[in-house]
Amino acid sequence: KGIDELGDPRGKRVLLRSDLNVPLEGEAGDSVITDDGRIRASVPTVQALRDAGARVVVVAHLGRPKGSPDARYSLAPVAKRLSELLGAEVAFATDTVGESARKTVASLNDGDVALLENLRFDARETSKDDAEREAFARELAELADVFVSDGFGVVHRKQASVYDVATLLPHAAGQLVLAEVRAFSKVLDEPERPYVVVLGGSKVSDKLGVIDNLLDKVDRLLIGGGMAFTFLAAQGYEVGGSLLERDQIDTVRGYIERAADRGVELVLPVDVVVAAEISADAQTSVVPASAIPADQKGLDIGPATIELFRGNLADAKTVVWNGPMGVFELTPFAGGTREVAVAISSLVDGTSVVGGGDSAAAVRQLGLDEGAFTHISTGGGASLELLEGKKLPGLTVLED
Ligand code: 3PG
Repeated sequence: KGIDELGDPRGKRVLLRSDLNVPLEGEAGDSVITDDGRIRASVPTVQALRDAGARVVVVAHLGRPKGSPDARYSLAPVAKRLSELLGAEVAFATDTVGESARKTVASLNDGDVALLENLRFDARETSKDDAEREAFARELAELADVFVSDGFGVVHRKQASVYDVATLLPHAAGQLVLAEVRAFSKVLDEPERPYVVVLGGSKVSDKLGVIDNLLDKVDRLLIGGGMAFTFLAAQGYEVGGSLLERDQIDTVRGYIERAADRGVELVLPVDVVVAAEISADAQTSVVPASAIPADQKGLDIGPATIELFRGNLADAKTVVWNGPMGVFELTPFAGGTREVAVAISSLVDGTSVVGGGDSAAAVRQLGLDEGAFTHISTGGGASLELLEGKKLPGLTVLED
């Protein structure tokens, strides 16, 4: 159910859960937002509610404070950025359900926006105790007439502002949550073929559930990033000083066999960029994936692998990409991630979905055209759990 189905929101106080968990650098009180992608993605729903005359009360978390106020995790810099993006004032409450929040909400006129301080400054937000969470959700619910859930990045969390509050107020999904759910439903339930999934990132153990769920659906699985070395090791190669999860080798061997049984093409790196150390001025070379020297680490996919992946992407009608191909934060190891992203955005004539977290950050940090992908997710853990085929509490609670 979208916000249109909530009835006329004019004059109503709308509690809007957004995911404004952005990276900050610098000292508390003087910090800088280094990637405002999530704030920008939250704007359309805030704007739509303002345009409809609602009094918008945005709630969000930042980082993982320990359940009490901590200046390093204040949402104050986020309020400032949100206000710049909206071109309108955002009233900032210095607490979440206390006097400042109540006064700030009471002062709103139709079309105004407030942001309340970090939800996780109250330990009840993330409590495992249902009664504690419900008590906090009730205090949040008292600040509003309706609830809109738009924090896609947190819908996998059973937390007071994500789950419990939806059981207390009339509710709807915001535009971002709807767009995310539609994009993932399309690639999970009705993919056009050929269907290619590109997985990367450092640890294969983070992706086991995704591989497990997608192996039965895809035509090709392309593996890069640090996780590829456990696949190479499972095939009997020496991987030198590269990342290797020895305890996953048997599981990975099982996936290799399952892919072969199902006729899924499993495409692994054929060459890698190696260096003795992970640094921006490292001495690099390209070696075959079957011959990584003992004193070198594989830190990116090599040029022959990029070509191989391009060939496998060229005719794809559906692509899901999750996880960088190398240590893209450092220039010598960014090429694989950049070229794979460019290939997906330029070659694929169909649906391309980029999982959130590192891959979405890579698209932005490498200055690539975000509009060239069908969808770039704002959710890291949430998008992974959807790809694992899980039901997410923050979505199921909206379905009643
Ligand atoms: C994220 O960064 O993935 C979301 O904001 C959720 O944050 P969390 O992992 O701290 O719950």
